[in-house]
Amino acid sequence: RTPLWLDCDPGHDDAFAIILAAEHPSFDLLGISTVHGNASIPKVTINTLSLLTAIGRTDIPVYSGSCKPFMRPAVHAPDIHGDSGIDGTTLLPKPPADIKVQPENAVLAMYNAIMKTPKGTCVIVATGTLTNVALCFATFPETVGHIKEVSIMGGAFGERSDSKGNITKCAEFNIYCDPESAQSIFSNPLLSGRITLAPLDLTHTVLAGPHILEALLYPDGDMTKKPSNLRQMLHDLLTFFSKTYVEVFGITDGPPLHDPVALAAILPTDEISWDIETVRVHVSCNDDDQVGRTLKRPRNQEVNEVRGEQLGAPGELVETLVKIPRSCDVTAF
Ligand code: BDR
Ligand code: CA
Repeated sequence: RTPLWLDCDPGHDDAFAIILAAEHPSFDLLGISTVHGNASIPKVTINTLSLLTAIGRTDIPVYSGSCKPFMRPAVHAPDIHGDSGIDGTTLLPKPPADIKVQPENAVLAMYNAIMKTPKGTCVIVATGTLTNVALCFATFPETVGHIKEVSIMGGAFGERSDSKGNITKCAEFNIYCDPESAQSIFSNPLLSGRITLAPLDLTHTVLAGPHILEALLYPDGDMTKKPSNLRQMLHDLLTFFSKTYVEVFGITDGPPLHDPVALAAILPTDEISWDIETVRVHVSCNDDDQVGRTLKRPRNQEVNEVRGEQLGAPGELVETLVKIPRSCDVTAF
């Protein structure tokens, strides 16, 4: 099983990412760190504990991470996810009194967990803003040696009419909230070839339409059976998310289930087939109407590829290659 660290900000779609990370047999979920994003850090952290309670996985340690980016104030998304970050259900259980957030610093916990995994094996999946992950690589560069892949939900390249941006006209929420952290990851040559990005251009092809909602409630098609509380709760969450996507974006055929796509992208390739493009990614960090915009730059063929600690010769130019799945077979997903 792939050792996995999840960094998230639940969030309706993060909730599905948490379940996939905790329950998919391909993954060994080492821990979860929370980050500012859809709601404030206390809210996304309690949401994470509640979701783990709902699926009976309170054995997974949860760490409360950065409450804001270090260059900017925090931005939240109550119009999409409600005030709690995960509005729309009364069935989300309270965590039992003995289940608490871990006292350790989230970035330190991420580092400690990753360093215990064999070199080149651990995967980080980031489904929120990139503050914690960027801090981890900046503070402890040796973490990179243990990383197999960093899979990120974020960015928008405007390749579909509905994928230009979802917080401004050209920026995607996770990148917009902390563009400096995102840029520090996309420009880290040690991570070259080991970053996968699931931007809106991809996630807007994975819609949770009415057939998904129905399959969630009645997995074997028998509508006379009463759904379990967990199924009803997930259905409630997707119904709320569908409603806000209609209200805010006018998307009527189901909300994009963004965050689980970052996990699907690292499933063994015999489970899902991907058409992958490899580019460099630049994040606009100027304080103007382009802030948080992601731009693709072609890979520079003259520059030697960099992997792990094997940087080029002194003075040699290096580049950070990012893999962007263009499309996937979502039936398996
Ligand atoms: C991303 O922003 C958040 O609102 C979602 O949880 C997802 O991670 C989509 O732009
Ligand atoms: Ca998220």
